[in-house]
Amino acid sequence: MPRQLITQQKIAEHVQRLGELYPPISLDSVDRTIKRPDLVVSKYGHVLDYLARVELEVDRNILELLVLLPDVVDTNRMFYADVWQPQEIQHGLILDRLQQDLGRKPAEPHLEVSFKIKILGALANLKPIQEVAKLLYFLTGASTERQAVLAYNQINTGLKELGEDAISETIITPIKQQEPGHFAFYQMSATKMVQHNELKPWQLFLTRVLREKSYNLVGTNAMDKYKADMGGVVVDLGLDDDLAGYAREVGRVEQRLLWAHRQGMDFPPYILKALRESVELYLERGGLNAPEPATA
Ligand SMILES: [Fe+2]
Ligand SMILES: [Fe+2]
Repeated sequence: MPRQLITQQKIAEHVQRLGELYPPISLDSVDRTIKRPDLVVSKYGHVLDYLARVELEVDRNILELLVLLPDVVDTNRMFYADVWQPQEIQHGLILDRLQQDLGRKPAEPHLEVSFKIKILGALANLKPIQEVAKLLYFLTGASTERQAVLAYNQINTGLKELGEDAISETIITPIKQQEPGHFAFYQMSATKMVQHNELKPWQLFLTRVLREKSYNLVGTNAMDKYKADMGGVVVDLGLDDDLAGYAREVGRVEQRLLWAHRQGMDFPPYILKALRESVELYLERGGLNAPEPATA
């Protein structure tokens, strides 16, 4: 089925609509009633910790974006400055307060830009590399936002089953409504670059190589301790029953844009590999009951 042609105009309209439809969620709008905190903690405590931390890392994502895309255009700036950051930071603050209401430790977001990103950023001063960095950035955004959508859907179903209506209706549902718009922004932006042949074949080739080498699941920051935590999220949400199906969901955009020429491959194998690695690290650590390692 031929896909709609994505233009800069369409992306700009999408961003404007998101800003109008979804103002950042205020902390005051939350009903903090929790019926059975112990049960919520045992089922979703770890997942909520993980999500709160990742949402609060939005400020590092902004720094990364500025490092990677020094020549960022107006629509992108409007998206991250007026829509995305203000929404995500509220997700983080609201989830962080929820986890503290549940008696958990406050989140400790990892706010340092990695050395790898700085290197890529230095290279991105060269225009052709910046285009590669930009496509990688959009693909990362699409993949991580998709993971957020799936996680919030799972948690919401679980919390409703537990009868935790206040958390479901005043926290998870409003957050969950904002994530698909973020996903759509990244998906449209990446699609536009490929549809308009903004990258030459060698640049696309380099994008594939770098993507394969540097793929990370949401919030893992290429660090083993976070990968193990993510393994715990995958297990707690019951996604480990069908890791391949989950990889297919999460990798749909890049499968279409980068790997459509590969016969017999229906999702990028590095995604499944990352999922398996996370679950293995989680199990090796002894699940969630093992003490946290003393050093970070
Ligand atoms: Fe979010
Ligand atoms: Fe998001």
